[in-house]
Amino acid sequence: MHSASWSKVVGFGILLAAVGCGRYASKPEPSLYDRLGGKPAITAVVGDFLQAVGNDGRVRHQPAAERVPALRGLLVDLVCQASGGPCVYGGRDMKAAHAGMGISQAEFEAVVDDLVKTLDQYKVPKREKQELLALLAPMRNDIVEVQ
Ligand code: HEM
Repeated sequence: MHSASWSKVVGFGILLAAVGCGRYASKPEPSLYDRLGGKPAITAVVGDFLQAVGNDGRVRHQPAAERVPALRGLLVDLVCQASGGPCVYGGRDMKAAHAGMGISQAEFEAVVDDLVKTLDQYKVPKREKQELLALLAPMRNDIVEVQ
């Protein structure tokens, strides 16, 4: 084979490699929703989280028992939507949902602590844990009324 042919073969090889790399590089990052394990995983975490909050003496403002199933569904939709999943949160905004309760900073921190513990129990990796907490943290201003 002439050297010109070789260069064609090498050129074609480089082209294939470039197309391969391009496809690999352009593969979209899975959403946080997918990395968390989708709706089944979120539903399981939210269920255990609500149980932890219910058993947490630091959290004075507890939902009425008959409100818990609805709250669970709303929280799943909220986390699902916020993490890039296909759900649509249909509940009230955070300010309206918690208005007048007088939720304290310490209570908010206790609830976040319960969530972190639940995520740890499910061995959710650090990166996903931090991304989820970063989505919830800005809600603090609308929820906490007492410093
Ligand atoms: C980032 C933190 C929080 C999120 C994402 C969150 C989310 C929600 C959602 C989605 C609802 C239901 C809204 C609706 O009924 O339309 C709700 C209700 C409620 N939240 Fe929170 N919440 C948070 C923090 C807290 C904290 C710290 C407390 C108390 C210490 C609390 C106490 C309650 C209670 C008692 C209800 C039930 C209200 C009712 O029965 O109508 N929440 N929350």
